[in-house]
Amino acid sequence: MDNVADWKRVAAASEIVEGAPLLVVVDSDDIALFRVKNDIFATDDLCTHAEASLVEGDQEGYIITCPRHGGQFDIRNGAPKHFPVFSPIRTYPVRIEGDDVYIEV
Ligand code: FES
Repeated sequence: MDNVADWKRVAAASEIVEGAPLLVVVDSDDIALFRVKNDIFATDDLCTHAEASLVEGDQEGYIITCPRHGGQFDIRNGAPKHFPVFSPIRTYPVRIEGDDVYIEV
């Protein structure tokens, strides 16, 4: 059984459009929300290379390309996929209930 206190509602699912990631602030952390078809993914917004905002990058499927130097991450697990990023971004478990999106923080 989940600890309810660990899950926070962060957005309406209908606000999150594939290819247009949504920035939300949770406990003063910037979190990026991504849609791929019916799935929603949550990651830290700041690129691990030089802290550009990933929601301003280009999303293609599960890959987000950083707007500053073109580094890429897999939004499913935060794994770095393309130079010059070598460190993963943090990802967060997501739960969708109706139109409400919760992440575990
Ligand atoms: Fe993201 Fe450099 S800041 S690749």
